Amino acid sequence: MLNKKIEDAFNLQFNAEAYSAYLYLSMAAWFESRNLPGFAMWLKVQAQEEMTHALRFYNFIHARGGRVTLTAIETPPAEWNSPLQVFEETYKHEQKVTGLINNLVDLSQQEHDHASDVFLQWFVNEQVEEESNASKTVEKLKLAKDNPSALLMLDTEMGTRVFLVPPVLAPTIGFGGLGAAGAAA
Ligand code: FEO
Repeated sequence: MLNKKIEDAFNLQFNAEAYSAYLYLSMAAWFESRNLPGFAMWLKVQAQEEMTHALRFYNFIHARGGRVTLTAIETPPAEWNSPLQVFEETYKHEQKVTGLINNLVDLSQQEHDHASDVFLQWFVNEQVEEESNASKTVEKLKLAKDNPSALLMLDTEMGTRVFLVPPVLAPTIGFGGLGAAGAAA
């Protein structure tokens, strides 16, 4: 059984993950409007992944006898100055999410909730990848600078990303659906 403090904190994290999906979809729309479909595709896949992160919390809260309550999702920004700025903000956003996850780990340990602690370890690992993906793209965009050919090549590379349906979306919720460490994103 989840205690109220953790239930509330996990519901807030559900909202934060849903906001991440909204933010990345807004960024994707910005790239669509600039005829850079590869960056848009990468961000659309990222938005789908963020919803699976939210659903991990949804499944876990209910599996532990808690209740998911949905709250309003903040309106994300819609305009950026450059592709580089988009990915600098992505990197900054992922660092913020890492901080939120770390706070949840601290809370679950303070509350002696070992199941929540284990559940969150998947997110601790995932955030390493999330930050790394964003910072690598920042570095590539810095190298491309104002070179249109380099930007178009990078756009093609980014467009190869595909969304892999993770167990968290499977119709029958097994343990993998709770976000066990080692399960696919
Ligand atoms: Fe769900 Fe990008 O962290």
